[in-house]
Amino acid sequence: MSQARIPHHVAIVMDGNGRWATRRFLPRVAGHKKGMDALRACVRHCGERGVKVLTVFAFSSENWNRPAEEVSSLMELLAAALSREVPQLKGEGVRIHFVGERAALSDKVRAGLAQAEADTAGNTRLIFNVCFNYGGRWDIAQAAARLAAQGQTITEQSLDGALALSHVPDPDLLIRTGGEQRLSNFLLWQAAYAELYFSDKLWPEFDSAALDEALAAFAARERRFGMTSEQVTPATVRKVA
Ligand code: IPE
Ligand code: IPE
Ligand code: MG
Repeated sequence: MSQARIPHHVAIVMDGNGRWATRRFLPRVAGHKKGMDALRACVRHCGERGVKVLTVFAFSSENWNRPAEEVSSLMELLAAALSREVPQLKGEGVRIHFVGERAALSDKVRAGLAQAEADTAGNTRLIFNVCFNYGGRWDIAQAAARLAAQGQTITEQSLDGALALSHVPDPDLLIRTGGEQRLSNFLLWQAAYAELYFSDKLWPEFDSAALDEALAAFAARERRFGMTSEQVTPATVRKVA
């Protein structure tokens, strides 16, 4: 796979954990645990393939509507993952950012997120954004509110700079597993020109080969950014992307 066609930023809606578990007569939380294994492998594979930014949707603003038991299991899984996974990620050159509204999270989880970010702040190989208690609408609203409070004019540029993902360029490739073809409030602003890729595989089954298929599909797309096909050259695309 030629390096030039590798997306700089890959975003993923990791969907299908619950169905993966239910099909095996297991509790849904077993699917979320298995999904964590898939995520670990995905982070590693993205690094190996030369992806520079990986952004994953781990818990949406709307996921609070799930049964309380499932919500608390997801919080516990996050807390456990922080202590288990961060040392490894740190050693692999991964810089972690948590993206989302933290006020609703427990003190323990909030402290864990801040610690993970501080521990990996010196890394540059792969930026790994974990969207947790994140919603695209929340992000646009919080950015606009912050600009308004500072008395700043709202323009595309100023809003872009105030969003929670302003530290990375927009995603080039947005993958959703689990068969649904919707955004579910993920990256509403940033996905404006992302190439969309939908996989019927449930997230726990989305392995390195499946990721390579998505990367190959991306490599075969022509991104036009509003131009005509004839205008599209590597130089023009670089300028507008
Ligand atoms: C995605 O898997 C993980 C989260 C939303 C936390 P789901 O839990 O939505 O799995 P399905 O869609 O019910 O199979
Ligand atoms: C989107 O999946 C959120 C995450 C993957 C974290 P959902 O399973 O919550 O999406 P809907 O409810 O089917 O749209
Ligand atoms: Mg789902």
